Amino acid sequence: MNISIIGTGYVGLVSGACFSEFGFNVTCIDKDKNKIDNLNKGLIPIYEPSLEDLVKKNVKAKRLFFSNKLSEDFKNSDAIFIAVGTPTNIENNKADLKYIYQVAKEIADLIDLNDKPKLIVTKSTVPVGTGKKIEEYILNYRKDLQLNKHFEVASNPEFLREGSAIEDFMRPDRVICGVESNYSKAILEKLYRPLNLRETPILFSGRETAELIKYASNGFLATKITFINEMADICEKVGADIQEVAKGIGLDGRIGTKFLHPGPGFGGSCFPKDTRALSEIAKEAGTNTRIIDSVIKVNEIRKINMVEKIKYTLAPLENKSISILGLTFKPNTDDMRESPSLVIVPELVKITKEIKVYDPAGMPAAKKMKEFNGVKWKNNTYDCIKGTDAIVLITEWNEFRALDLDKVKMLLNNPVIIDLRNIYKPVSMNELGFKYVSIGRGGI
Ligand SMILES: NC(=O)c1ccc[n+]([C@@H]2O[C@H](COP(=O)([O-])OP(=O)(O)OC[C@H]3O[C@@H](n4cnc5c(N)ncnc54)[C@H](O)[C@@H]3O)[C@@H](O)[C@H]2O)c1
Repeated sequence: MNISIIGTGYVGLVSGACFSEFGFNVTCIDKDKNKIDNLNKGLIPIYEPSLEDLVKKNVKAKRLFFSNKLSEDFKNSDAIFIAVGTPTNIENNKADLKYIYQVAKEIADLIDLNDKPKLIVTKSTVPVGTGKKIEEYILNYRKDLQLNKHFEVASNPEFLREGSAIEDFMRPDRVICGVESNYSKAILEKLYRPLNLRETPILFSGRETAELIKYASNGFLATKITFINEMADICEKVGADIQEVAKGIGLDGRIGTKFLHPGPGFGGSCFPKDTRALSEIAKEAGTNTRIIDSVIKVNEIRKINMVEKIKYTLAPLENKSISILGLTFKPNTDDMRESPSLVIVPELVKITKEIKVYDPAGMPAAKKMKEFNGVKWKNNTYDCIKGTDAIVLITEWNEFRALDLDKVKMLLNNPVIIDLRNIYKPVSMNELGFKYVSIGRGGI
């Protein structure tokens, strides 16, 4: 089987590397020439554990190729995956589908009437009905083409998480395929057979259902995070411990322990934009999403509330120097999209004497963002915290979990840690002489 993947970002590159690891021939295509040139030189554009080794291995085996033109391998492709971005359109909060339609046009231009039908698969997260609209778009643009005879469109939303993307792709909880014909079904069955042999459930549904499953999943997970954050606020008022509350409710099999970690609010490239898009999908369909709308609002307010928590703990801030540990929206990624740090850090820059920051992988991207104007960049944790009046921990990178706390105490002007991820135990920190403020564990 030959696969083309258009869009070589987090999803496209990981999917390409994993499909080639299954033994298929894969070409990853991106319009960003620099990215493709670098990949052809062996330079991986994103930080994702194990990705570099997998890419190198499959390039060496001549199963994985990179190109900035679709035309080169289109003729031989059994399936063409679309994995371009679908960011929020800031004018209307809907998913912006301009990259999707650019790709649809590029594909339509290349379809040959004499070839077997081309299977186009949306792996990008796209609003319900997009598969059908791509069909209509192609039929309108190329009047000589017939659906099913020359092309088909299927939906195969991706559920990988940045930071554990390879593992998630190789051992997913399930694979969702939305198809409208047996031809599409047969190709997707072949592509996912290696996972089926490992007993991964492969669910086939109609295309609209598959498109909605993706948004419903992200909407539910965002709701779960927001719910536990609200419970953490209650814990702080009543003297309860959110870690124990999360464990206590999570052990109920109907609830489950995952996604019950309180923090500074969800961010990243998916939950914020997908909850907004889901709300717009519902409106367009003549219904509404009151729960999701609250989740979006509560999550935005939460990031601001974190600044209030910091102010309350450290007041007055005018003469304070603060060290920030972690900028990315989660550990093990360099992705800065909609990270809580983008709200928290600029507010602190305005009201403090000095902000020093360190993140193990996010700084190259963060340095290009205006939100971090005025911060001092540091190359490691201890340099960052040296001579500051308090640490604010925003991202729970592993290297922050096992700090030399005696050294930390010595380097800080005041032993104060505001931990927005609950990676230390309040009792031990207090015993060590720290003023330790965390989330939902009494106190503030
Ligand atoms: N990042 C995640 O964790 C994740 C997880 C599941 C689903 N998704 C969804 O997958 C999609 C892709 O997300 P991502 O994070 O990989 O995006 P990304 O921004 O990392 O990558 C998108 C890539 O597409 C390329 N591109 C855009 N237009 C192109 C064109 N016409 N031809 C060739 N390349 C083009 C861009 O240059 C970029 O490299 C989105 O819809 C997203 O919601 C993302």
